[in-house]
Amino acid sequence: MAISQKMIAFAERSSWIRKMFEEGARLKAQYGADHVCDFSLGNPDLPPPAQYQEAVRKVTAAEGPGSHGYMANNGYPFVREAVAKQIGAEQGMAVGQDDILMTVGAAGAINVTMKALLDPGDEVLILAPFFVEYNFYVDNHGGATKIVNTAQDFSLDLAAIEAAITPKTKAIIINSPNNPTGQIYSATELAGLAEVLKKAPQTVYLISDEPYRKIVYDNHTVPSIFAAYPNSLIVSSYSKDLSLPGERIGYIAVHP
Ligand SMILES: Cc1ncc(COP(=O)(O)O)c(C=O)c1O
Repeated sequence: MAISQKMIAFAERSSWIRKMFEEGARLKAQYGADHVCDFSLGNPDLPPPAQYQEAVRKVTAAEGPGSHGYMANNGYPFVREAVAKQIGAEQGMAVGQDDILMTVGAAGAINVTMKALLDPGDEVLILAPFFVEYNFYVDNHGGATKIVNTAQDFSLDLAAIEAAITPKTKAIIINSPNNPTGQIYSATELAGLAEVLKKAPQTVYLISDEPYRKIVYDNHTVPSIFAAYPNSLIVSSYSKDLSLPGERIGYIAVHP
């Protein structure tokens, strides 16, 4: 089969994650699973909550026409209502079900957002070190990623972000709490970022990828993105916090 040159190059660049995963499996077989921490793929190693198991049993037991049918494109209204309530509480402002779109995981949420926003050649800023899939999500929809380094302590380098913005910049993706660094951007940093983005003559959308929002320790909190910047969207999922990566339950929340 004639694979495109672009896909060959992508596969070469991304194959190291799989190689690390395979190396982890090899080391686990050699030293025992308890002695090897595998940070390659983000599969949580806790079981999903009992309430989730119960809900799944009910859904799979449902019979009759339509019980496993298509749904509205943006998701079931009662699900969007529940997600809106959760996001509203997290963000400290009223969020309605019309601000929520259910997606196939956070990956689907970012892809849908890119498809909706990008014209060919538009640039999307991503902050290194970053979740490597961002490159593919942006490329899928005709955009180009522009990598901006974070500071030595992995906080936002606002001067570097400002310098990277061009007339083609359509969006910036931030990820807090961050994979891989664990960094949480403070409210002050986010306010500074908002000031930088507002300086651009065009609208630069702030896309906050937050699947790790609930996995924080030592009394840390994750500040509200909606409070910081009006042209913002949250893309997230229940993959990590409910241990459900295989179920692909994600969403986009648009600033109300
Ligand atoms: C930072 C980040 N964003 C997005 C995703 C994709 O999440 P999902 O499995 O919900 O599509 C991951 C998965 O590892 C991730 O680490």
